[in-house]
Amino acid sequence: MTLSGKELVSQLIHQYSGLSELATLSFLADHFAGQIVFSSSFSFEDQVISHQLLSNKIPVSIFTLDTGRLFSETYAVWNSSNEKYQTKIKAYYPSQEKLQAYVEEKGPNAFYESIDNRKECCFIRKVEPLQRALAGNKLWVTGLRAEHSAARHDLPTFEWDETNQIIKYHPLLHWTFEEVKDYITKNNIPYNPLHDRGFVSIGCAPCTRAVKPGEDFRAGRWWWEDANKKECGLHATN
Ligand code: ADX
Ligand code: SF4
Repeated sequence: MTLSGKELVSQLIHQYSGLSELATLSFLADHFAGQIVFSSSFSFEDQVISHQLLSNKIPVSIFTLDTGRLFSETYAVWNSSNEKYQTKIKAYYPSQEKLQAYVEEKGPNAFYESIDNRKECCFIRKVEPLQRALAGNKLWVTGLRAEHSAARHDLPTFEWDETNQIIKYHPLLHWTFEEVKDYITKNNIPYNPLHDRGFVSIGCAPCTRAVKPGEDFRAGRWWWEDANKKECGLHATN
């Protein structure tokens, strides 16, 4: 009998409840051998997961979506991670053809002009490359945490992603920001220096600003838009 995606998710939740993230990642790498990937934006969270995978040699392939508009600090932490763990994190790039047509028609910073332009840029630079990165895989590990936003608050650790037809696993879903930070410090993990300058959630440079004390975790992302429109399409419902 073949289980549906949703049934498989229920089974995984049951099977791995009570296990540590590390043990779960290790079992999943075995269960979904060759068809499990982790997406890293080199955030605090993603660096914790990369550290767990790479320092324990857990065979999960790590990729990043290089939008071409990342901060120079993000490229630096990518480079230092490659060096520290003696690896080469794989990058997916926007389609040259789609990007060229978009920029020629609308200009390099058209995302500030309308939500449609912004979503189109996110689609070209992130969502379509993500689809290529996920193709042929069965399980996608992410660094989502419940504290990030109201939409992420009630997520389960495993979920079925109908849009991408893949199971998602969020190992750090219930970690607090302090726990993530402490883990980074204790394990001497390379991290984005922008985190020390008020940046919390970090995406593309033109679309991310530092947050002020008391502001929401994601207030610095697409800060000129309404809070309820702030998703880029990577995580369809969260
Ligand atoms: S986003 O939807 O707003 O862009 P966010 O920055 O909160 O996402 O990151 C949540 C998770 O999405 C990360 O932990 C990572 O798994 C994935 N992610 C976000 N941006 C990228 C990227 N540029 N490359 C790879 N994965 C990414
Ligand atoms: Fe484009 Fe900004 Fe989206 Fe990056 S975050 S893909 S620059 S609109």
